[in-house]
Amino acid sequence: MDNERAPCSFVIFGATGDLVATKLLPALYRLEVVSRLPARLRIIAVARRDWDRDQWLAYMEDELAHVGAYGEDRRLAERFTGRFDFVGGELDDAVTYSRLQDTLGADCGETVFYLAIPPAQFLTAIEGLSAGGFARNQGSHRIVVEKPFGTDLDSARHLNAELHERFHEDQVFRIDHFLGKQPVQNLTVFRFANTLIEPIWNRNYIDHVQITVAEELGIGSRAGYFDRTGTLRDMLQNHLMQMLTVVAMEPPASLDADALRDEKVKVLRSIRPLSEASVRSAVVRGQYGSGVVGGEAVPAYTSEPDVESASTTETFVAARFHVDNWRWRDVPFYLRTGKRLPKQLSVVAIRFRHPPQQLFHDTPAEHLQSNWISLTVQPDENIAMEIQAKQPGLKMATRVLRLDTAVRKEGEARLDAYETLLLDAIDGDRSQFIRFDEVERAWRVVMPILDAWAEDSRTPETYPAGTWGPAGADAIFEQPGQAWRNVG
Ligand code: BG6
Repeated sequence: MDNERAPCSFVIFGATGDLVATKLLPALYRLEVVSRLPARLRIIAVARRDWDRDQWLAYMEDELAHVGAYGEDRRLAERFTGRFDFVGGELDDAVTYSRLQDTLGADCGETVFYLAIPPAQFLTAIEGLSAGGFARNQGSHRIVVEKPFGTDLDSARHLNAELHERFHEDQVFRIDHFLGKQPVQNLTVFRFANTLIEPIWNRNYIDHVQITVAEELGIGSRAGYFDRTGTLRDMLQNHLMQMLTVVAMEPPASLDADALRDEKVKVLRSIRPLSEASVRSAVVRGQYGSGVVGGEAVPAYTSEPDVESASTTETFVAARFHVDNWRWRDVPFYLRTGKRLPKQLSVVAIRFRHPPQQLFHDTPAEHLQSNWISLTVQPDENIAMEIQAKQPGLKMATRVLRLDTAVRKEGEARLDAYETLLLDAIDGDRSQFIRFDEVERAWRVVMPILDAWAEDSRTPETYPAGTWGPAGADAIFEQPGQAWRNVG
């Protein structure tokens, strides 16, 4: 890919951080492999180390060593490393930005600035960029901001105001990497490209919706960030809320960025506000204790490195929401996410209503199951449908047939969300990035939870690592017969 509009530089702040090592560098390299990076694109890594370019390259080669086939094609690896420069310095030091300016050179036009830094440092970087002459009046730069955008509604508004003082909205790319996941993008196709599906995607046929994002992993070495953040802000306010909007939105007029985002905002606006009392009955928070995950004994959250033993940060949240609009009125949306659960599983599961008449009451088929459609995002990308069928034989007995198919065919590569989103940022396509009104509305949805928890002296319920969360999570269902589904 190369065109006149392609940016000539990609600047990564926080280049020696975890996100860059695990996601950004491998994604950029894979884009190089498939020749999707603009030919003249330079990549400038900015970090606090006192390194020169060679030290950076040595670090990067180490980090990329685990990425499949890296280095086997030496020419390709050299083309990739040849793009890189390194700028060392503190984010709050003007010298860092003048070094960056020198490295970029005077003739460099459009640049993408990627803030892969802790959220607490976003403002410092934005101010530094602006003072360094990289803001709106100095060319059409783009700025990519990681989530969470703010820590609550007020801080999100403040961050946005500061951003808008220096950048135009169309320069701002607020990232939520779940929107770059192929199966999440597939949700839109599944709903709107299949005449079979869309007519039944509403309250007349659907009993309830479940969205689960379960992780086996604990917090690893991220205590510094996570302990101040918690699962509600880290996962539910953004990733799960975004999945909810894609499941629930009306067909957009087109797939252009604003048409799509208009529909998602409408969903967020329709979510019934939680009262303090409803937070108690509809939201459950938990924290993992010690336990066994994947056959290995793991410590409790409060025994993780750098976590205070008295920490009350939640590592699990389950919540019930209602989308009060024509399509979804009275259909509960159950959302659940947690760390140190028994397995990795991200899935959207739709349960359909029972048929209006139980024709098979007096036969062995009396226990008719509901139909389910499940769209698994992780670890495998698959679509499954559960339907009732007659068991072969003389008796009128039914059983569940599972029509289950992997989305990717054998040999088709698994794309990482960051490959898609980095390319979109480079191409200037904002449709899979978040507009501020989405962020704001999502904060409005979760603020009553944060407020209620701030007043609540009870601590999160402990769950043993390797289980499906605290017992209280089973109590948020509205109807008998509704229960968490732990399969894709
Ligand atoms: C990140 C969260 O946004 O998403 C992490 O900060 C979480 O806590 C991660 O583990 C999950 O994303 P993925 O793509 O690894 O499933």
